Amino acid sequence: MPTHGLVLQPRALPREERVEVSRLLPDGTANCAGLADHLVRHGELPPSRRSLAWRETMTTEIEHAGLVGHGGAAFPTAKKLKAVISQASRAVVIANGTEGEPASEKDRTLLTRAPHLVLDGASVAADIVEASEVLVVVHRDVRAAVDAAVDERRSAELDRVPLRVVTAADRFVAGEASAVVNWVARARPVPLGRPPRTSERGLDGRPTLVQNVETLAHLALIARHGAAWYRALGTPDEPGSMLVTLLGALEEPGVREIEIGTSVAEVLARAGGPTTPLQALLVGGYFGSWLPAHPTLSLPFSARGLGAGLGAGLVVAFPTDACGVAETARLARYLACESAGQCGPCLFGLPAIADEVEKLAEGRSNRLGDLERWLVEIEGRGACSHPDGVARLVSSALRVFAVEVAEHLEGWCTGEGERHVLPIPPGGSR
Ligand SMILES: Cc1cc2nc3c(=O)[nH]c(=O)nc-3n(C[C@H](O)[C@H](O)[C@H](O)COP(=O)(O)O)c2cc1C
Ligand code: SF4
Repeated sequence: MPTHGLVLQPRALPREERVEVSRLLPDGTANCAGLADHLVRHGELPPSRRSLAWRETMTTEIEHAGLVGHGGAAFPTAKKLKAVISQASRAVVIANGTEGEPASEKDRTLLTRAPHLVLDGASVAADIVEASEVLVVVHRDVRAAVDAAVDERRSAELDRVPLRVVTAADRFVAGEASAVVNWVARARPVPLGRPPRTSERGLDGRPTLVQNVETLAHLALIARHGAAWYRALGTPDEPGSMLVTLLGALEEPGVREIEIGTSVAEVLARAGGPTTPLQALLVGGYFGSWLPAHPTLSLPFSARGLGAGLGAGLVVAFPTDACGVAETARLARYLACESAGQCGPCLFGLPAIADEVEKLAEGRSNRLGDLERWLVEIEGRGACSHPDGVARLVSSALRVFAVEVAEHLEGWCTGEGERHVLPIPPGGSR
């Protein structure tokens, strides 16, 4: 076990002291999969008038709510709506439930336990941008649940705009907005490159609003209760609640809904607290940032509080007896293999980075300086932000595991390099 002061003792709150938030997910393990249960819980959507005034009011309300995307980039939703509205041709809405991040389960959980909230949001978004079609792209595990929900809505004639369900491609980059468009249009789940943005020219050349399914669920609640209600939770800068996938050394890993700004220790307590002392946390996802357990546990869980993006809401509690360098090497290799292999930084940069991090983990690195330079050089150079995500992950590992990196350079490791905490799909890390 490392002795350099990163050790934090486990802390678990008794169940009755945990702060529960249940805007999106019903309490506990309850389900709200059926339309009748959904309507009892949330009530009907206010009637959509689709007049210019209604569309403007809804967009302003979403802007005032401060809703941002929950697919990874935290892009302001109202800005994207406005970008699609400003286009001349008929729009399409895509609800992105691809969830290509192997460790994340929040979108699948939401689509299983509260699919109608997502579909309500997609329907409202379609009315706001005057779309002619909504595509709901979902992970194959939840296809049946979403099909059943869409069938119920069809029978109840709930949606003005037709909903079509598509099974997502199963790979890391498949959830990138233009890759989803490419998958639906051409069965090629790789990013199209930029520009133009999908909001300008997406599916069949039409303006396409791609929103993560959780974002749409929040949007459905804002349509019902308004911006002030939404802002009653969270911080002034980052209002609302969010879904997080909690995993690693935790008593009860899984998906929880939390108020943004809750302390990180409290967030982990929602999963029963750590089972063992922690040295670090991976926040955001495989594109996210490693953060040291101390002082992170006492900080607010918000992008501003942590100084790091919350990404797709993944939080991994990383124990002291695992090796952060070895774990980062596994992730870097997986991400390098998952690239679409069509831009320079992915073709040449990511494999070289993965090689060097692997050598470092094995105590054979002789190009640490080159590695640091490559991480800076690939930034912003891909057609999508895949290389940026890998650079962020590896750079944060070099910072947070600096002591371990120095140990590896001397040829030894205090952690158990074989102890894997993060899931990698079978065949994913070739
Ligand atoms: C490599 C890569 C993978 C992504 N995977 C997903 C995904 O699985 N699901 C998702 O909603 N967004 C994913 N995104 C983000 C999307 O490009 C897009 O920003 C998002 O779906 C927009 O919705 P939001 O604004 O509601 O977050 C990914 C982005 C990148 C660069
Ligand atoms: S940056 Fe990588 S993942 Fe993104 S489009 Fe280019 S090759 Fe594909």
